[in-house]
Amino acid sequence: MRAMVYRGPYKVRVEEKDIPPIEHPNDAIVAVQLAAICGSDLHLYHGMMPDTRVGMTFGHEFIGVVHEVGPSVQNLKPGDRVMVPFNIYCGSCYFCARGLYSNCHNVNPNATAVGGIYGYSHTCGGYDGGQAEFVRVPFADVGPAVIPDWMSDEDALMCTDALATGYFGAQLGDIAEGDVVVVFGAGPVGLYAAASSWLMGAGRVIVVDYLDYRLEKARTFANAEIVNFAEYDDIVVEMKTTTGGLGADVVIDAVGAEADGNLLQHVTSAKLKMQGGSPIALNWAIDSVRKGGTVSVMGAYGPMFSAVKFGDAMNKGLTLRMNQCPVKRQWPRLFSHIQNGYLKPSDIVTHRIPLDHIAEGYHIFSGKLDNCIKPVIVPSAAA
Ligand SMILES: NC(=O)c1ccc[n+]([C@@H]2O[C@H](COP(=O)([O-])OP(=O)(O)OC[C@H]3O[C@@H](n4cnc5c(N)ncnc54)[C@H](O)[C@@H]3O)[C@@H](O)[C@H]2O)c1
Ligand SMILES: [Zn+2]
Ligand SMILES: [Zn+2]
Repeated sequence: MRAMVYRGPYKVRVEEKDIPPIEHPNDAIVAVQLAAICGSDLHLYHGMMPDTRVGMTFGHEFIGVVHEVGPSVQNLKPGDRVMVPFNIYCGSCYFCARGLYSNCHNVNPNATAVGGIYGYSHTCGGYDGGQAEFVRVPFADVGPAVIPDWMSDEDALMCTDALATGYFGAQLGDIAEGDVVVVFGAGPVGLYAAASSWLMGAGRVIVVDYLDYRLEKARTFANAEIVNFAEYDDIVVEMKTTTGGLGADVVIDAVGAEADGNLLQHVTSAKLKMQGGSPIALNWAIDSVRKGGTVSVMGAYGPMFSAVKFGDAMNKGLTLRMNQCPVKRQWPRLFSHIQNGYLKPSDIVTHRIPLDHIAEGYHIFSGKLDNCIKPVIVPSAAA
């Protein structure tokens, strides 16, 4: 099969690989129809994630058709059109039993914090991902679901991570009727978090980024007020000013480890790897939220510490909430919002790229070129 392969920072290419075999009775092999590149993949692509091995296939957002199932699989059969959450999880451990699918205890021998994620380095379990023609799906009876007939392929694809994560970000904000919600980051996760905030009762939604084309999308797609942080000496002062001096009720970090806006933080994290990620957006969130408010962190950070303004968070009495998204937990609500027309996830897809040209896809998405927001990858067999 054709598969994306990591060769080192900023280097990916497509190679021939063996079609993955069934390794366990509850595995399924899925023929990928669509995959996506996620902002999280950029952390791998930029060499930010420990133990990202040469030869690994990335891709944790994908849908496809079941090609083969192991002997114990009961919920899926060959030919089923399935969507697969980015989390790999057993469904029965202490954490899965409590809905913490992203924190499953049985799928990742390399870390105790994070569970398993497709195509996301050996730190996250060492599983190959779906930017390929075929992918092995462990615990096939647990994670995947048959795509409802009425749902489009691209909408289903967005449900496997970005949409679910944006929605989860708003959910962890504990938004009360009329709340002012600020979202840092106008990538896919931030756009979906902003749109979801309205569904949870927000009274104002403000999206902050420095890329005008993405901010424009936040205005049209998520109906948000937009602020370009590059136009202000101090974005925190602007956030306080626009909220009557108090700060926002809820702030969502949809940026994560590679935040721009402060050279020192950027160099010590992205370049020198002295921090698990640059906490610029997170610190802006802590500073921009009102006392007693909630900061919801969807942006991803590496395992090492980061210079987070913890004392200020403590003294302001903030609630900090965060996790990798337990994707499948969000699906029932997302399905009804999509079916009712409240959310149109595929509206943010900007690029459809053949798998054989995936290196170009990474280059465009990483460089924020060609007004790219969400690139979708189409394997040759599915095109
Ligand atoms: N928690 C989860 O389960 C989960 C799931 C998916 C993605 N993520 C993470 O969410 C983050 C966003 O993902 P994405 O796909 O939207 O990525 P993306 O790279 O497309 O978007 C990030 C956006 O943040 C903007 N930005 C950079 N610095 C900023 C700053 N200081 N303030 C405001 N905006 C700033 C960038 O210009 C960009 O538009 C990533 O860190 C990703 O790893 C987490
Ligand atoms: Zn992702
Ligand atoms: Zn589990």
